[in-house]
Amino acid sequence: MEKRNSRVKQLSFRDGERTGRQPGAIVNVASVPQRSPFRYPGGKTWLIPHIRAWLTSHPTPPAAFVEPFAGGGSVSLTVACEHLAAHVTMIELDAQVAAVWQTIIHGDAAGLAAQIEQFDLTLDTLAAALRTIPETTQQQAFHTILKNRTNRGGILAPGAGRVKTGEAGKGIRSRWYPATIARRIRDIALVRSRITFIQGDGLALARQWADDPDTVFFIDPPYTASSKRAGSRLYLHAEVDHDAVFRLAAACAGDVLMTYDHAEEIHALADRYGFDTEPVAMKSTHHAEMTELLIGRDLDWARQIQIGSVQSRASVPPSEQD
Ligand SMILES: C[S@@+](CC[C@H](N)C(=O)[O-])C[C@H]1O[C@@H](n2cnc3c(N)ncnc32)[C@H](O)[C@@H]1O
Repeated sequence: MEKRNSRVKQLSFRDGERTGRQPGAIVNVASVPQRSPFRYPGGKTWLIPHIRAWLTSHPTPPAAFVEPFAGGGSVSLTVACEHLAAHVTMIELDAQVAAVWQTIIHGDAAGLAAQIEQFDLTLDTLAAALRTIPETTQQQAFHTILKNRTNRGGILAPGAGRVKTGEAGKGIRSRWYPATIARRIRDIALVRSRITFIQGDGLALARQWADDPDTVFFIDPPYTASSKRAGSRLYLHAEVDHDAVFRLAAACAGDVLMTYDHAEEIHALADRYGFDTEPVAMKSTHHAEMTELLIGRDLDWARQIQIGSVQSRASVPPSEQD
């Protein structure tokens, strides 16, 4: 481990080889590998080209990358898989989501992958599986994946509805790609020595790295700070002390990148804590053009990315899209 860390730390990010792009080059969203077993509401796979540009704007890869609101984890997984930081820590409060990460990162990932592959999903088998009370973390993880893949929008919060007609009238099976999900789990297991998962309050836990200049933070809380409150129905834990999030981010010795909805209240918070902001274009699940807000100390690296050139994922087969 020590050896690998020092090798990573010596690598310069500016060689373009490690990321397949040069700063300012065209960002091709279709080229972003999907690594998470989740289809996660508010997931940030679309932001991966920016994450690469952000971390490669540092002269050397950070020793530690911390994601205090990890959710579906696509950013953390990319950082670990692409050696964008020497070690990744994912934190998530939701017990259902946490069970999946606990099993994959610190438990029997191969067992969970096999269980998913072997499950014959029908309305009856789904109902029977979800009627059982999970007795182990792995059983809870399996329940979570089942629900995530059969609930509308991947929503795990209470009150989430089941997918009805789904893609091409395939109903509950329309997002059930067992071979793809199992492969992603096995792939994560290959890099898990570089990842730590902790279940708990991201805000409280992240403080332990606040004084370390070589730790960077990617902070993507539920979007409940503005009056739009877009995140309020997506997660069981949606209430966050956003002022405290900004206060912590401002106090961190290392670099910080936050994402929020593009709203006046968020600009006001960013101004109060002296942050730079940059709107970034994204396509919603309904393919509507939207903007979200990047917040950090100095977002010059983001302004160099050609946002207008983001390409669609139309050429990616559905089983690889989420
Ligand atoms: C916007 S989502 C993160 C999405 C993630 N970046 C992705 O790409 O999938 C916010 C997450 O924060 C979690 N959360 C809410 N309150 C939390 C807390 N106090 N500590 C840790 N996680 C929390 C929610 O359960 C949700 O998974």
